[in-house]
Amino acid sequence: MQVQSKVIIIDFGSQYTQLIARRIREAGVYSEIHPCTISLDELKTIKPSALVLSGGPASVGSSDSPGIDPEVFDLGLPVLGICYGMQLIAHTFSGTVEPSINREYGRSTLEFACQCPLWDSLQDKENLTVWMSHGDTVLAPPPGFDVLARTASVEIAAIGNPEKKIYAVQFHPEVAHTEEGFRILHNFLFKIAGLKPDWSMSSFIDSAIDSMRQTIGDEGQVVCGLSGGIDSTVVAILLHKAIGKRLHCILVDNGVLRHGEGEEVVETLKEHFDLNLKYVQAQDRFLSKLKGVEDPEKKRKIIGHTFIEVFDEEARAIPGVQWLAQGTLYPDVIESVSFKGPSAVIKSHHNVGGLPEKMNLKLVEPLRELFKDEVRKVAVELGIPDVFVWRHPFPGPGLAIRIIGEVTPERLDILRKADRIVQNELQASDWYRKVWQGFAVLLPLKTVGVMGDERTYENVIALRIVDSVDAMTADWSRVPSEILAGISNRIINEVKGVNRVVLDISSKPPSTIEWE
Ligand code: XMP
Repeated sequence: MQVQSKVIIIDFGSQYTQLIARRIREAGVYSEIHPCTISLDELKTIKPSALVLSGGPASVGSSDSPGIDPEVFDLGLPVLGICYGMQLIAHTFSGTVEPSINREYGRSTLEFACQCPLWDSLQDKENLTVWMSHGDTVLAPPPGFDVLARTASVEIAAIGNPEKKIYAVQFHPEVAHTEEGFRILHNFLFKIAGLKPDWSMSSFIDSAIDSMRQTIGDEGQVVCGLSGGIDSTVVAILLHKAIGKRLHCILVDNGVLRHGEGEEVVETLKEHFDLNLKYVQAQDRFLSKLKGVEDPEKKRKIIGHTFIEVFDEEARAIPGVQWLAQGTLYPDVIESVSFKGPSAVIKSHHNVGGLPEKMNLKLVEPLRELFKDEVRKVAVELGIPDVFVWRHPFPGPGLAIRIIGEVTPERLDILRKADRIVQNELQASDWYRKVWQGFAVLLPLKTVGVMGDERTYENVIALRIVDSVDAMTADWSRVPSEILAGISNRIINEVKGVNRVVLDISSKPPSTIEWE
């Protein structure tokens, strides 16, 4: 990445480590997370402009607590320690750190103890609410460090050594609950470390295109699976810009896509970008394998395996392909390198797991450095139409896991019609963008109803509409009742085979977003 300012976050296992990286990037500075096991030499090769030491669950006093080479502090880099990072700094520089009697968790009120650049333009604020979560407490600052702030329960809530440009806070400036936390991070980046905000999505696009050209060379041919989702679309457009027609996109219609989705993706992409795109209609192949299968895990496996088969056949038919493009995002990368702690628990769904091994292709992953919200910004910069940028997540096994029980053409037809109404009605209001995901689920049971003077005995559709930031947790969206009523009326009136619509009002956990 060709940026001048690069902040390296050293991860000690905090659940907030990713959040620190995102906040720093939001400030326009490129940041990367590395586990605390990184060696001094590795760190030097990365050439950081500043370091942040994350929080973490350990106690600096215990024998197996994670640390870093103390020579890191001799590199002359500005350092910000957060929570465990502060205790480690205090410990390393011979301050006194003791385990607290009770782990302090939650809101606290910060009082500034002196003027310092970390509090720049905040000095007139009293009673700043900050978010604390720590087990150890610094009881005496190390020599050369000033006490910068206190709270009611902690005498030393921030310390700093202006000469060495090493600062540390006991609270979490990265979380939304900390008032002015973003300003404090800004002050560290710009007032203390003197960094330049040179990380932007347009600079990312230029350097990603350059580096892909170099990696793939003048002859390399790349194959890329398109799903219609934002990640694979951005991967394809970036590669298209880098290598033009040497990129071969494959969109497999697995028979469990939404209404008209395959055609719509092909048409929109062809209209806006001159992509080399093959639309493989493999619906029958998937549906015949799904016949009679009720178990959701079996359905997933069948769809995954069949996708690999089809994709492999198609890719082999393209002469000279050596590369496979994938939409791996930064959270997936962090998951594989993270220091084992709470932040390591990031679930991801691997739709095409097994593909690279089977195909023996080299991987090109242009989004490895990006968070999801950054991918959206790249999409907008690349001129990718809104329908892709704001499309709700859609699972690889598609409607097959939204039909409970066996997947049949009749059931698919009912679900597609109902789901289309859900999409249309959410889009017609501004709720489509407000919610994380909204869709219909077809239940394998019939209930009694009355239509006209006739008794009916038909299917039930469940509506699942949720708010979330990362799909790890979710709550049911409080969509206005008139919108829900509109969806329900339309489904019952327009979709033959449905006489009842219900709303799922469970949160995740303990429920999941998909019903399976
Ligand atoms: P759950 O049901 O686990 O879903 O709460 C969390 C999020 O992941 C999506 N999902 C998938 N996405 N391939 C995907 O790309 C899959 O196999 C898959 N399964 C679930 C789901 O739609 C939700 O956004």
